[in-house]
Amino acid sequence: MKILLLGSGGREHALAWKIAQSTKVEKLFIAPGNAGTSQVGENVPLSVCDFEAIARFVLDNSISMVVVGPEDPLVKGIYDYFKNDAELSNVAVIAPSKDAAQLEGSKSFAKDFMQRHNIPTAAYKAFDGTQVEEACRFLEGLKAPYVLKADGLCAGKGVLIVPTLEEAKAQLKEMFSGMFGDSSATVVIEEYLDGIECSVFVLTDGKDYVLLPEAKDYKRIGEGNTGLNTGGMGSISPVPFADAAWMKKVEERIIHPTVDGLAAEGLLYKGFIFFGLINVDGEPMVIEYNARMGDPETESVMLRLKDDIVELFEKVDAGTLAGTTVHFDERTAVCVMLVSGGYPEAYGKGYEITGLNNVKDSILFHAGTAIKDGKVVTAGGRVIAVCSYGTNRDEALQKSFGSAETIDFEKKYFRGDIGFDL
Ligand code: AMP
Ligand code: GLY
Repeated sequence: MKILLLGSGGREHALAWKIAQSTKVEKLFIAPGNAGTSQVGENVPLSVCDFEAIARFVLDNSISMVVVGPEDPLVKGIYDYFKNDAELSNVAVIAPSKDAAQLEGSKSFAKDFMQRHNIPTAAYKAFDGTQVEEACRFLEGLKAPYVLKADGLCAGKGVLIVPTLEEAKAQLKEMFSGMFGDSSATVVIEEYLDGIECSVFVLTDGKDYVLLPEAKDYKRIGEGNTGLNTGGMGSISPVPFADAAWMKKVEERIIHPTVDGLAAEGLLYKGFIFFGLINVDGEPMVIEYNARMGDPETESVMLRLKDDIVELFEKVDAGTLAGTTVHFDERTAVCVMLVSGGYPEAYGKGYEITGLNNVKDSILFHAGTAIKDGKVVTAGGRVIAVCSYGTNRDEALQKSFGSAETIDFEKKYFRGDIGFDL
């Protein structure tokens, strides 16, 4: 079968690497892809939200499956675009419908959904710009620190955690006045949860699901989880506290009610659900949903998934996932992200990357790279995900840190403490 994968980051290189291992794949295209994805498939210069161009490419090339990496096309309704067109409706689209993608596209939708289905999450209330007084009163009833979330998509930047009430009120007003554009026209204010986070993933056909390996990501730029938030500086799987007893609670209290709730509300979903969880005194609670895989969690998760992912996608499309067992590699998988100095603020691009071919102990997924004059150069803040297996965490990390030293580009930076808190 011919498959088109949408996206261009480390997540997509990891997905492409996994898809390309399937015996079912005749040809894999990645749009737009990066220098790494071109090693496992053919890159095509299409933008992930240009549905018309994507549809034309799918028809012209007899593609029978589209796999969607990032959230933008999901929230803009790529699933519905295909299903509502007679010529395209039989193409398998591994994605939620536009309505279901609101689990990620609108924080207030997600919170209301969790409330309707009794799924454990922080206490909250949503407000718009006409409700400043009520919002301030709600803040006064909470304890510090204060959590303010822009309702809409903000490329992972829409959450503020503010230490004092005065600052929270000031930031709230800024959010209503367009700090995140239209995305913060509505703001969710919620109770602060203290605990350690874990990302849990399932693939669902809308009725049943299979659980994928869990992972933990490291969002802050600095060691010891300090400094600005980034797209993710590394990941590790498995997560020790996510043992069988904890995962049983996660499945019973969170995953089952979510999948059943989607079905009961008629929200079509054929794709990945990402549960951003927090472990509060041994009890899992939902911080957020995403309608896609995580980045850089995917880079570790794909290393541990032993099954043919295209077979799983076929079952997702056909609605026949029930009874499917998924097998995990027992080893630990880690990902250490090499980033361009300055990131997540201003950084340079176009630096030549050397040493890639000297890496022997790790699997490299490209995140922000391009090919220029025959050379691989940096093309983003996050550049290369250095991923390794180990019989334990330390062994996997030592391999990734060693490989990270082998690769070089101007102003290279990485966190040398991934996994430190586990
Ligand atoms: P989100 O975009 O919802 O994942 O939020 C970004 C980050 O903010 C999360 O990964 C958490 O670290 C933090 N966060 C979000 N909501 C809360 C909360 N209610 N309590 C504590 N931390 C939170
Ligand atoms: N790693 C978090 C995310 O992909 O949103």
